[in-house]
Amino acid sequence: MKKIKVNLDKKVSSSYEICIGNELMDRIGMLIVRNMPALHYIIITDVNVSAMYGGSLLDRLRGMSLSADIIDFPAGEDAKNIGTTIAIVERLLKLGADRKSALLALGGGVVGDMTGFIASTFMRSVPYIQIPTTLMAQVDSSIGGKTAIDLPEGKNLLGTFYQPRGVFIDMKFLNTLPDEDIRNGLAEVIKYGIIDDVAFFNFLEENMRAIKERDREVLEKIVQNSCRIKKGIVEIDEKEMGIRRVLNFGHTIGHAIEAESNYTISHGAAVSLGMVAAARISERLYDLPEGDRERIEHLLESAGLSCRIPQTITTDGIMARLRADKKKEGDRIHFVLLKKMGMPFINGGVPESILRETVEGLKK
Ligand SMILES: NC(=O)c1ccc[n+]([C@@H]2O[C@H](COP(=O)([O-])OP(=O)(O)OC[C@H]3O[C@@H](n4cnc5c(N)ncnc54)[C@H](O)[C@@H]3O)[C@@H](O)[C@H]2O)c1
Repeated sequence: MKKIKVNLDKKVSSSYEICIGNELMDRIGMLIVRNMPALHYIIITDVNVSAMYGGSLLDRLRGMSLSADIIDFPAGEDAKNIGTTIAIVERLLKLGADRKSALLALGGGVVGDMTGFIASTFMRSVPYIQIPTTLMAQVDSSIGGKTAIDLPEGKNLLGTFYQPRGVFIDMKFLNTLPDEDIRNGLAEVIKYGIIDDVAFFNFLEENMRAIKERDREVLEKIVQNSCRIKKGIVEIDEKEMGIRRVLNFGHTIGHAIEAESNYTISHGAAVSLGMVAAARISERLYDLPEGDRERIEHLLESAGLSCRIPQTITTDGIMARLRADKKKEGDRIHFVLLKKMGMPFINGGVPESILRETVEGLKK
């Protein structure tokens, strides 16, 4: 088992460990109890993950004579809303949960974001642990304490920064993950290579075939590297006042596309499109070498991620979403752009005409 410590400013949050391994579920009970003692554990999960792994986690906890229950809700981004949140809170109250209880987020990014949000607000906060089961959650959403739910006006508009007490990553969960969800996670993995670690980007280029064939060692290496890169950035800037914004590379346009598609385009696919757009804007305005931009597009394509926006999504719709973006300050939307590979910077505004032309240029 590999351990990565997330060291946070003690005045703000407690530090915690990310554990990565192949048989973690076998000792998950001990890991949970050691890192988060509580009188009552409640697993929060979606119906898919509940059917595959919920029962065995519940049995393991009860088998250790711990008081444990499980709450599940419909799977998918559509469920990451206020209605589901209230329904889960009502179930928590019915189960007698109180401030001595703790939550376990068992699932992908939707489960993790929503459980973290509930943990940060239920009875003025209870502790929680992340047990991520998708590649997206293992490499990104379970780390760093960003929690959120979506509103009709856009994604992640209601949320908090609230760190988990631990992140336990069992690589075995990926065995049942559909290819599409592997691709989604790969978008964030590739992002780390682009913004932070050129050697890692090279590794991804060289090993894309092994990744797609789900080579265990290669997958474990990319999860470890991704966690290390993300935790390094979160440690410097837990509340996203500055450098953490570079993690949003591709996300500004990506979120607009995702919402405009009514979430029929997944988060990873939308971020991939957003990264292509950001690379093209960087080439045009900031001399990102053409070769770097081509390598980015090629790696995303070889991972099976589309670099083209479907015609059904209108440029006007995307532009309207961008104007309403929560990263906006005054008239300026903060875009993360690239000077070159591994050198991102935060730009306080791209002219609307260039944004529009870039989006148009990405249409199928
Ligand atoms: N908080 C953050 O920092 C952060 C970062 C990135 C993404 N996110 C959020 O994460 C969400 C996307 O996460 P996601 O891609 O994991 O989506 P998801 O949680 O919807 O999971 C995708 C699908 O995979 C299923 N699934 C989960 N684990 C499985 C397994 N082991 N085997 C088979 N099926 C499994 C789920 O039931 C679901 O149908 C978005 O809401 C996004 O905003 C948050």
